[in-house]
Amino acid sequence: MKVSIVGTGYVGLTTGACLAYLGHSVTCIDADSAKVAELKAGRAPFHEPFLNELLADAQRNLTFTTDYAAAIPQSQVIFIAVGTPTGVNGAPDLKYLESAARSIGQCLAGDFTVVVNKSTVPIGSGNWVESLVREAYEKHAAEKHAGEKHAGRKAEDVFAIASNPEFLREGSAIFDTLYPDRVVVGTDQQRTREVLYSLYRPLLEQDFRAPVYLARPASMGAVPLISTDIASAELIKYAANAFLALKISYINEIGQLAEKVGADIEQVAKGIGLDARIGRRFLQAGVGWGGSCFGKDTAALISTASEYGLDSPIVKAARAVNARQRERVVEKLLDELKILKGRTIGILGLAFKPDTDDLRESPALDIARKLIERGARVRAHDPVAMERFRKENPDLKVTCCESAEEAARGCDAVVLMTEWVEYRELDWEAIRPTMRTPVVLDGRNHLDRARLVTAEYRYLGLAG
Ligand code: UDX
Ligand code: UDX
Repeated sequence: MKVSIVGTGYVGLTTGACLAYLGHSVTCIDADSAKVAELKAGRAPFHEPFLNELLADAQRNLTFTTDYAAAIPQSQVIFIAVGTPTGVNGAPDLKYLESAARSIGQCLAGDFTVVVNKSTVPIGSGNWVESLVREAYEKHAAEKHAGEKHAGRKAEDVFAIASNPEFLREGSAIFDTLYPDRVVVGTDQQRTREVLYSLYRPLLEQDFRAPVYLARPASMGAVPLISTDIASAELIKYAANAFLALKISYINEIGQLAEKVGADIEQVAKGIGLDARIGRRFLQAGVGWGGSCFGKDTAALISTASEYGLDSPIVKAARAVNARQRERVVEKLLDELKILKGRTIGILGLAFKPDTDDLRESPALDIARKLIERGARVRAHDPVAMERFRKENPDLKVTCCESAEEAARGCDAVVLMTEWVEYRELDWEAIRPTMRTPVVLDGRNHLDRARLVTAEYRYLGLAG
């Protein structure tokens, strides 16, 4: 099928590359011409495991452009995957979505096209996007056919809106897209459902050839297709993200208690997670969640609920616990070092999670800011996010280091913020004498505590 994707961010580009890999003919449209130039040269504009390989594999089915008119008229399916950052009062800022919807409407040519919302949008946005596309289409058609009897085809014959939320995690975005737990399609029309079923058929039936670098899990069977109305699909996305966020906050809340009573939070998480009703995933205690989704989507869920006069005490509590975890990092350092002014703190890991260079809402940045405000000097290292960090945070006075060893040198304490595998495997014994005081705060319960204690570090956890 012929597919267009508007927005080549983490979601849009991953979706586009995967659909092209499955054999569809995909054009990715992005307003950022520098990004498009990078992509045309075969380079992914961000770090995501296997994305470069997938782009190379799918190359013959993939085109990149800044021009809507070059792709939209021929498309059978158009995905909108532009960002929806938090705006005022927690509600998402929909200006990119609006601009994408209008541009699509202007370019629709006449054959039936499904316009799919992949961006996480407030409940009810399906109708709003529909009205924007319709308005732009009708205005354009009226101009085109001015003076003619024939006014072009009716909007309802030309396009329909669907919601198809994504559930991919950065760092494993391609795996999650090729081997999803489920595909959710929200639409009120059978015809639209059939188009999207045809599009996703190879994914649903899992009969495509798996990439050599990302084998299909042995347990993988056919993927369930959840077919709903548009509002339900939109709510599924928010409810899923909020649930994952509160699962993490829950284990962090229990972690605080574990610390007081002398329990081991890792064992507690395992012990409760093996109950199939609870599940083991997303029970990793630590500094809490960051990233572009959980903060934004929990805020948006609270904001939408409040528009209907509803309070969201559970989701609010999850956010409060998450913010508290970041405060606790600073408090622990204060307890240990007594004074932060003039101290040097090393931060290991800047990305909001491993295997990405994404720094949006990263706890590490927040903590660096808090430490600097209290007069500390901050040195930092990240295996892949340094370049992006320098570019995006020119005002944050952090000394960027080439290695973890360099970041730790002369420090009064080192704080681990992102659980990169290589940090666990550092030569901690050799690092110790280079530090002013050998204090390690493990913000992700990631390091080998016994080894660090044996190496005469003062090991601080965030929980348990
Ligand atoms: C996505 C979703 O779309 C968002 O709703 C979800 O909650 C999280 O994931 P993401 O892929 O992370 O966002 O966004 P981002 O990396 O910011 O990429 C958006 C892309 O859209 C950028 O490349 C930007 O240049 C492009 N864009 C934005 C356009 O092409 N046109 C616009 O008008 C605005
Ligand atoms: C999330 C959702 O998982 C995904 O389904 C949705 O589509 C987009 O938002 P993402 O933000 O990319 O994905 O990564 P995720 O793996 O969910 O991690 C989010 C944050 O939670 C990270 O900062 C991570 O370190 C933290 N986290 C995750 C924990 O602190 N503990 C855990 O057990 C899991």
